[in-house]
Amino acid sequence: MSKNIEALNKKIKEAHLGGGQQRIDKQHEKKKLTARERVDYFLDEGSFEEIGILVTHRTTDFGMDQQHFYGDGVVTGYGTVNGRLVYVYAQDFTVFGGALSETHAEKICKVMDHAVKVGAPIIGLNDSGGARIQEGVRSLGGYADIFFRNVQASGVVPQISAIMGPCAGGAVYSPAMTDFTLMVQDTSYMFVTGPNVVKTVTNEEVTSEELGGASAHSTKSGVTHCTAANDIECLEQLKKMLSYMPQNNQEKPEKLAFELGEEFRPELDNLVPENANKPYDMHEVIKGIIDADSFFEIHKDYADNILVGFSRIGGRSVGVVANQPMRLAGVLDVDASKKAARFVRFCDAFNIPLLVLVDVPGFLPGTDQEWNGIILHGAKLLYALSEATVPRITVITRKAYGGAYDVMNSKHIGADLNYAWPTAEIAVMGAKGASEIIFRKEIANAKDQEAKLLEKESEYAEKFANPFKAAQRGFVDEVIMPRDTRRKLIKAFAMLENKEVLRPQRKHGNIPL
Ligand code: COA
Repeated sequence: MSKNIEALNKKIKEAHLGGGQQRIDKQHEKKKLTARERVDYFLDEGSFEEIGILVTHRTTDFGMDQQHFYGDGVVTGYGTVNGRLVYVYAQDFTVFGGALSETHAEKICKVMDHAVKVGAPIIGLNDSGGARIQEGVRSLGGYADIFFRNVQASGVVPQISAIMGPCAGGAVYSPAMTDFTLMVQDTSYMFVTGPNVVKTVTNEEVTSEELGGASAHSTKSGVTHCTAANDIECLEQLKKMLSYMPQNNQEKPEKLAFELGEEFRPELDNLVPENANKPYDMHEVIKGIIDADSFFEIHKDYADNILVGFSRIGGRSVGVVANQPMRLAGVLDVDASKKAARFVRFCDAFNIPLLVLVDVPGFLPGTDQEWNGIILHGAKLLYALSEATVPRITVITRKAYGGAYDVMNSKHIGADLNYAWPTAEIAVMGAKGASEIIFRKEIANAKDQEAKLLEKESEYAEKFANPFKAAQRGFVDEVIMPRDTRRKLIKAFAMLENKEVLRPQRKHGNIPL
């Protein structure tokens, strides 16, 4: 072997050891995989091609000129997931705690630039102590270079972040600007300022896990879209998530082979209880409509009065947005509106058709909601759906009341097909509330006020607690048997395959933020 080849082999071997065996062992003790193990598991076997393996930092301060590790704390390159090209970067906690230096950032920017030029997803596996403290502003500049690229790539190629260790300070803003964030339970956390600073500034005592662990961000803040029990589960989730997405905004998602067969689902006929105040699980409706086991739920534990997630219908990737009557009767509130609006915008940006399932009694009343800006946040969902040009289909299973009827992909805001089940109630509000307002005097003057209210309630219900008025006007295209919903949707999404909508030219709209 020539000397040069030997030298190269030595460098590569060294690079593969990251910060050294001791630090690798420490990483394993924490039940974390190393950056390289993560990349290897994530990508198809043997598909990884590394870019920048021999990069080292340029800092000389604080004795850094004596400490060089090939790769400088991040493994970057490309490979395939289920045969499809993806770009990946994985921060290596064994090298300076995965801290981001100027050169570390340059490596990430390089693969991001590639991803946009070529039109393929970019996946970041984050595990980092933040800005490389020895580098000062140069590392902050490196973050900003990444943030800028996150924004340029937004809506062009899918960007997904997995948080598999610390992610603190400015570092959090790259994941926040990507399309989806996944977190690993117990070993990852994200916060703008850590527990020590929190204690100093607000006097609150809080642990890292409480402040910014996976459960805080999956239930309270909504910062993370999915959580995983460990690294492997997280990487599996990433792969599955990618399968619903196209490579870029010029392509459609992959369509799986499908043949239309016996698609009736009789179990749906009796799913909606006779009593309109009784809940049922919207997951059961979704299950009865989509291809078997294809629901990939996003934000499962956050604002679960609305459900969002990817699915397949007749082999096609479809984004589902559905009110959940099991939780807060399926009302729209601040968090639910934000959650659904963001998901709708992702689907629209990446040519994923939308299915909206409606059972909504309206917006959640109260000072908390009003003072937290339900007007603005509700408007986000209205805006997101109104601007979406992908195929859009609505199925009203039960309540579609008030302004929420308009918001939930009504015909008026551009839905392509609007179906209703015979159990649908499309009205300004529920029969009781409506009767109390419009028949107030009549009820007040009645001898038996309760009986009068009931009489008026049933009069109103008979008139409006059904889908037929809306169907007469064409606001509902068809009232369908629940059991036939899946078949109808398979055919309708196939029919809408080549939908094209041209909007007037503008720089960008001004979604209420
Ligand atoms: N810059 C440079 N080196 C860093 C670093 C940073 N931001 N964060 C961690 N490191 C180094 C540590 O010096 C240590 O080096 P060593 O292996 O040579 O001893 C190594 O990374 C591992 O860090 P350690 O503190 O031993 O790991 P831990 O698991 O106990 O704690 C953190 C991890 C992230 C909580 C802790 O390192 C930390 O608080 N880092 C600073 C975070 C920060 O304030 N960043 C700047 C703001 S963006």
